[in-house]
Amino acid sequence: MNKNEYVDLEIIDNGSSFEGIAKKDGKVVFVPGAIIGEKVLTKVIKITKDYAIASLEEIYHKSVYRTEPICDAFKKCGGCSSEHIEYNMQLLLKNKMVENVLKKQKVTYPNIESTIGMGMPYYYRNKVQYPIRVDRLGNTVMGFYAKRSHDIVQNSCCFIQNRVIDILSKNIFDLLLNEGFVGYNEEKGDGDIRHLLVRRSYHTGEIMLVIIVNNESLLSDRRFEKITKRLIEQNESIKGIFLNLNDSNTNEILGEQIVKLYGEDYITDSIGDYTYYISPKSFFQVNTIQAEVLYTVLKNRLNLQGNEILFDLYSGVGSIGIFLSDKVKEIYGIEIEEEAVTMANKNIELNHVENAEYIAGSVEDKIEEFKQRKIHPDVIVVDPPRRGLDEKSIAYILDFKPQKIGYVSCNPATLARDLKVLEEQYDIHSITPVDLFPHTAHVECVAVLGKK
Ligand SMILES: C[S@@+](CC[C@H](N)C(=O)[O-])C[C@H]1O[C@@H](n2cnc3c(N)ncnc32)[C@H](O)[C@@H]1O
Repeated sequence: MNKNEYVDLEIIDNGSSFEGIAKKDGKVVFVPGAIIGEKVLTKVIKITKDYAIASLEEIYHKSVYRTEPICDAFKKCGGCSSEHIEYNMQLLLKNKMVENVLKKQKVTYPNIESTIGMGMPYYYRNKVQYPIRVDRLGNTVMGFYAKRSHDIVQNSCCFIQNRVIDILSKNIFDLLLNEGFVGYNEEKGDGDIRHLLVRRSYHTGEIMLVIIVNNESLLSDRRFEKITKRLIEQNESIKGIFLNLNDSNTNEILGEQIVKLYGEDYITDSIGDYTYYISPKSFFQVNTIQAEVLYTVLKNRLNLQGNEILFDLYSGVGSIGIFLSDKVKEIYGIEIEEEAVTMANKNIELNHVENAEYIAGSVEDKIEEFKQRKIHPDVIVVDPPRRGLDEKSIAYILDFKPQKIGYVSCNPATLARDLKVLEEQYDIHSITPVDLFPHTAHVECVAVLGKK
């Protein structure tokens, strides 16, 4: 196999980004866009000593699971990665993704349950973070990043976003352009507006807007008052409008400083029977319907008896602890984002949850505090970011010796890595993937472990 050579391949698997996988001359060949079972003509575009990447040129034998992508921008946009695969097959492949990483780590696990999908796997996202940039021609544009790049792909409709959010975002973008604001230039670090963040509560329809600016002087720019006035006249569902300053050279979307232009500090949404306040900087699951499925799986698999002390670690606005609150005696939560902890403590009151306490700080630093206070958890629930658990936190968790651990994970690779450590002292009772992000390569998992 050489670079630029045309090669016939049979696709034997799909990888963690849904890329087709084949083997040729003892090498793994990745073929983006190809589906397991297909026979294809490809062109080698990259070759290393361990693997090759080839572009899909022609399909001789099509998979029965191949379907027409719903979105015109699918081929370019980096948002979705599997619209060309029928939804039921996407779910099966997500099971395989989880299985592959667990096998790679040699984790001992029972059967992986079938990935729980959505009945209507479109328009599910309750939050959008649109980058606003200047393009190569100097025009200000808004859209999503192209695959493997920070070029912007503009699109008239995003099929995984809530439609109201999508339409409103375009309206706000036009207002910003009319006032003469320009998009951020990543290379030079100049420009006015970096991102537009819009959140819409699934159950109440309340909307929160955050405009992320690149320069401190913009926080007092009078043009935003004009835009705010227009927006609240046009849309009574808008409950809060904020400016956020991010003037660092970073891929993070939000900066520290936030200024309220209008309205409330939060919007409310619910998951199951519980209602949550959500502030601009708090984490909240972007797929409200599937969040309820996820938390219900966790609740059922933990089989709580009502007398347990539970730790809710990486707790965001307290969503998981509060969802489990009718099944436990006491809850102690830790979350690094102070604003989310303020919300969590308000959410306890809102839901009349007694015996729950949320503290601000990192799990690795704050968990010691519970030990000093001689609080002995029966159950520890963790829901860390994609990087998973750090060594220090795992050591503390093992030291507490809870009877059960519930691990909610948005990254199967770090879940598998951490389960490998935890399995020395715990049996893995169940692993359930839940599809929170249809048409993307992301998959959420709930693993429930019991003390050996
Ligand atoms: C995947 S979210 C889960 C939030 C919540 N459990 C939920 O379901 O909405 C992960 C959360 O961990 C927080 N976080 C990140 N690193 C942390 C750390 N070292 N210690 C505590 N919290 C952390 C983030 O701010 C975020 O709220």
